Amino acid sequence: MIIAIDGPAAAGKGTLARRLAAHFGYPHLDTGALYRAVARRLLDAGQEPTDEAAAVAAAHSVGAAELGDPRLRDEAVGRATSVVSALPAVRATLLDFQRRFAHTPPGAVLDGRDIGTVVCPDAEAKLFVTAGAEERARRRAKELRERGVPAIDARVLQDIKERDARDSSRDTAPLTQAADAYVLDTTQLDPDAAFEAALAYIATRDT
Ligand code: DC
Repeated sequence: MIIAIDGPAAAGKGTLARRLAAHFGYPHLDTGALYRAVARRLLDAGQEPTDEAAAVAAAHSVGAAELGDPRLRDEAVGRATSVVSALPAVRATLLDFQRRFAHTPPGAVLDGRDIGTVVCPDAEAKLFVTAGAEERARRRAKELRERGVPAIDARVLQDIKERDARDSSRDTAPLTQAADAYVLDTTQLDPDAAFEAALAYIATRDT
């Protein structure tokens, strides 16, 4: 079974995806990390995130091994990623990797922005995980502070709103909810409650 999880930044997709993957014994692909790894490579090489040829070359050489690099979570990388991920040629380059991952038996959990709509429109289970912008900013700021990065809530909220706008308005694979996705609003849910709600939905899809 393929479980596709989409939604805006800091809505709880990653936590949910990791728990579902552990529960079902499936591998998990954080597709945001793929785009972040491309951006990181560009920043390391002193190249601009708008440099399409350099970004495509980086996308071709990105491998699973670097997806766990904690530097991928840096805010500067996040901002560059939002630019890089709007480039159609970068998205096309990363599509193959994501589809191969998804279609390897026995199944997979992928989270991102366009998994249920573009990468795996045939996924058996599709979740659209969302939460109010203020709550997402509060969670992201807390996560940053826990990593020792000073974070001001208002600044993080501004960043989240800008990223939402860029992710939703780009021409290629914008953040949109698949018509057949189950919407899970986690504003009032803790991770356990979100996990239980997701399991209950997936049980209805597991035929
Ligand atoms: O989920 P995240 O914060 O790690 O995502 C980083 C950026 O990558 C974000 O701006 C959206 C983009 N992204 C994307 O365009 N498509 C995906 N499948 C995953 C992430």
